[in-house]
Amino acid sequence: MHTLLLLTLMMGTAAIADAADINKGALIYSVHCANCHGGSGAPVMPGSPNFQRGEKLLQADFALLASIRRGKNAMPAYMGLLRDQEIMDVVAYLRTLQR
Ligand code: HEC
Repeated sequence: MHTLLLLTLMMGTAAIADAADINKGALIYSVHCANCHGGSGAPVMPGSPNFQRGEKLLQADFALLASIRRGKNAMPAYMGLLRDQEIMDVVAYLRTLQR
């Protein structure tokens, strides 16, 4: 039981440890996120954070990954839709939107 859990954790970490690809993240963002979060990170849907101002981005990548996987209120969950690596690509892209 413990071995299985450890193995799962290790495999998960290995998948996420690959360097995030900002260009892939930008593409995924334009398809899945821009409708609500705006093409340049200024929110379109009321109540969504302003990424240009860095809102909600003062969190570790892992914390952002967790929120995006499970969704939040009006925001859908992306677990099963996007792989963790893809979410980490988007997180890397989110960090470029701040100005
Ligand atoms: C249907 C509209 C919608 C879509 C699509 C959407 N979001 Fe959101 N997102 C929201 C809203 C609304 C909030 C604010 C939720 C709240 O705090 O109540 C939010 C919050 C967030 C947050 C902040 C979470 C936190 O810690 O509070 C992040 C990060 C985020 N979205 C990233 C993304 C990414 C990346 C995508 C695409 C993969 C995406 N969102 C797609 C509407 C959306």
